[in-house]
Amino acid sequence: MAKYIVVTGGAGYIGSHTVVSLVENGYTPVILDDFRNANRVVIDGLKAILQAEPIIHEGDICDPNFLDSIFEKYEPLSVIHFAAYKAVGESVAEPLNYYQNNISGLVNVLQKMLEFNISNFVFSSSCTVYGEPKGQKEVTEETEKNLPNSPYGYTKWIGEQIIQDVYNANKHLKVINLRYFNPVGAHKSALIGEFPIGRPNNLLPFVTQTAIGKQEILTVFGNDYPTPDGTCIRDYIHVSDLANAHVKAVDFLMEKKSGLLENINIGTGKGTSVKEIIQAFVKETGVVLNWQNGPRREGDVVEIYANASKAEKLLGWKSELTIVDAVRDAWNWEQYLSK
Ligand code: UFG
Repeated sequence: MAKYIVVTGGAGYIGSHTVVSLVENGYTPVILDDFRNANRVVIDGLKAILQAEPIIHEGDICDPNFLDSIFEKYEPLSVIHFAAYKAVGESVAEPLNYYQNNISGLVNVLQKMLEFNISNFVFSSSCTVYGEPKGQKEVTEETEKNLPNSPYGYTKWIGEQIIQDVYNANKHLKVINLRYFNPVGAHKSALIGEFPIGRPNNLLPFVTQTAIGKQEILTVFGNDYPTPDGTCIRDYIHVSDLANAHVKAVDFLMEKKSGLLENINIGTGKGTSVKEIIQAFVKETGVVLNWQNGPRREGDVVEIYANASKAEKLLGWKSELTIVDAVRDAWNWEQYLSK
C-alpha cells in the first residue's frame, strides 16, 4: 500500500526538494499547491528527476473543502506543511496577507487533521523564532525565543504557539517543528531550485542573478558589524540536506506510538559570513561577481547559527553538503533557468 504523505506547498523551493527525498525513501508524496508562489517548471523538473508523474492537486489549503477531498481520498500517514508566504520585506508591506495566508492555512490544516484523525505533522518553522539571540550566537532549541522582526517572522512564532496549544488539547498528535536556518542551493541535477519572485531578497539568489546579469550589482548589507570580516553570519543549509531532514522527521513520527511535540534546528552548525559566501561563489564558479559594500539592512540579525545536535540525536540527521556544493548547485540552476 502506498505510504501517502501530503505535502502542502510541494511545488515550492523546499517542498519540491522534499518531494524528491520522500520518493527516494519509499513514500508517495501528494503535492498540494495553488502555484501562486511556485513555478510550473518545477513540475517538469520533478518529472525528469523522478522519471514519473508526481501526484499534484492544485488548490488552496485555506479552502476546507479542498483539504476534505484530499484527506478523504489519500488517508495520508502524515502532513508536511510548507505552504506559506516567506518574504520578510513583503510581509512588512502586506502584513494582513501574511497573517491571512500563513495563519489561516495552518489552522485549517490542523483542523482538518483532527477531523480526519491524522496524527503526524511536520511544520516549516524558522530560526526567525530566536530573533537576535542574546549572548551565545549558536542556538539550541532551548535558547530563549525572542520576538521576530517582521510579520513573516511572527507567523512562524505564532504558528509554533498555535501548534503548542493544539497539541496541549490533543496529546495524541505527533508533531515536529523544523526550525530551518538559511536554505540555499538547488538539486544537483539543476532541474529544480528556487524561483525568487521579482527582485530576490535572499543572498544566494541575488549572487547568482548578479553573476548571470539579471541584477546589476550585489550590495553587501553592512560591513561594520562586530564579526571577523564585518559582515553578518548565518548558517546556510543545502536545500537537499534540508529536504532529507523532513524524511527523517516523518520516519521518526511513524515509529513513535505516543504523542509528542519537538522543536528541531536544521542547520549545519557552522556560521558563514556574507563575504565568505561571495568568496566561495567566485572561487567555485570562476565567474566575476560585481559587488559593493552598502549600508546595513534594517532588521538584520548580526550572527546566528544552529546547534544541530538534537537533529542528529533524535532523527539521525546531519548535514552532508557544503557551501561549495550549494554555490555550485545554485549557479547550475541559475544557468539552467537562463537557457
Ligand atoms: N544580504 C546581503 N545582500 C543581499 C541579500 C542579503 O548582504 O542582497 C545579506 C543579509 O544582510 C544577511 C545575509 O545576506 O546578512 C542573509 O540574508 P538573507 O536575506 O538571505 O537571509 P536572512 O538571514 O535575512 O533571512 C532568513 C530567511 C528568512 C527568515 C530569516 C530569519 O530568508 O525567511 O532568515 O532570521 F525570516
